[in-house]
Amino acid sequence: MRVLIGITGGVAAYKVCEVVSTLAKSGVAVRVLMTDQAQHFVSAVTFAALSRHPVYTDADFWSARSDHSDHSVYKPLHIALGEWADVFIIAPLTANTLGKLAHGLADNLLTNTVLASVCPVLLAPAMNTDMWQQATVQRNWQMLLQDARYHAVGPGAGRLACDRVGPGRLAEPVTVVAHITSLLHTSGRRDLAGKHILISAGSTREYLDPVRFIGNPATGRMGLALAAAAQHRGAQVTVVHGPLALELEATLPVGGRAIATTTAAEMEQAMLTCLAEADWVIMAAAVADVRPVDTAPHKLPKKDLPSQLPLDTVPDIVAQLTARRAPGQCIVGFAAQTGEIVAPALDKLKRKQLDAIVANPIDKPGSGFGSSNNEAVILSADGRQRQVVHGSKLALAHQLYDFLLEDFLLVSERQP
Ligand code: C5P
Repeated sequence: MRVLIGITGGVAAYKVCEVVSTLAKSGVAVRVLMTDQAQHFVSAVTFAALSRHPVYTDADFWSARSDHSDHSVYKPLHIALGEWADVFIIAPLTANTLGKLAHGLADNLLTNTVLASVCPVLLAPAMNTDMWQQATVQRNWQMLLQDARYHAVGPGAGRLACDRVGPGRLAEPVTVVAHITSLLHTSGRRDLAGKHILISAGSTREYLDPVRFIGNPATGRMGLALAAAAQHRGAQVTVVHGPLALELEATLPVGGRAIATTTAAEMEQAMLTCLAEADWVIMAAAVADVRPVDTAPHKLPKKDLPSQLPLDTVPDIVAQLTARRAPGQCIVGFAAQTGEIVAPALDKLKRKQLDAIVANPIDKPGSGFGSSNNEAVILSADGRQRQVVHGSKLALAHQLYDFLLEDFLLVSERQP
């Protein structure tokens, strides 16, 4: 996996250090090229150390030094770099370079490498709010995004280095890295374009009083990874989620719809309301299966806590969804299991009338609840089975979509 990172002259260049560092540590080969202006903000030495490789600048471009160790096969640097990269990301992307790309200009190493390559390009703009909102910049941006080769991450809104509060902030490094990971998996395919995917994420809570609840340790990481992967592949997403930690709320899909819920009844209501517009539904939330029969409106003093807690079961949301689905809607469940994972998941698949189920172990270190990683077996109603080895939740999300798309193709092939 080879990622080329182009850095242009914006103060947000310092945040890209983290992107380079994260990618290099995870074993991705990273090469950095910087414009002259970029070097006013962060030194090339910093990026060289983080990427474990010398940084390319315009000095290399004009001296026409080849990147190839085999000097008998000389290639100009911009062509060699373009051929080397699986994904090219430009972060921060200034208004100036954005304008050049929109008009197909090539006056330095970075812009020449863009034109001399065919890999997907991820653009991460960052600039002052007034610059971002200029009609010319917006026109250039829209023009660029019409080209399927270009993918966008951000800009977000917030307080900028110029003390303005508004859009123009570089997307957070974790979001940028996730988008790069997706592009490495898909090579830029937008194979979920036109699909609306409804995803439930996190846990639900059933309160005994305003303080105490029955819940579980699900954080929402899996559901949010499913949402990000779907968006990166061109889908429209709606996420119905339980309570999220602040740092995870920041990773809710921008441009998608997010509905916050707390109890299973609220999640059920939201999912049923959104069902009609969804092509695929993925029920990744860990729903609390029971709720206290009584809920006190005020915090119960310790001495009044019941020694036994009468419980009701909560509705099975996914079973409600499958019972109400329209023809062609695909509904996927999750089965978090301890011990044997396949047999109980197959039972759930049939009982809940699902199209597919993702069975994942929650008793293995580094998998399941709260972890950034997972492993699973994906099972489909038509008897297909796929083992997903231990990896990031984003990687599992992509493998689930690959699996479902295959199924979709199989079904369309079966139909006359
Ligand atoms: O029945 P069990 O909880 O083991 O099944 C797990 C699957 O069912 C998950 O997809 C989960 O989101 C869903 N579920 C649900 N409503 C419940 C319990 C689980 O939709 N009350």
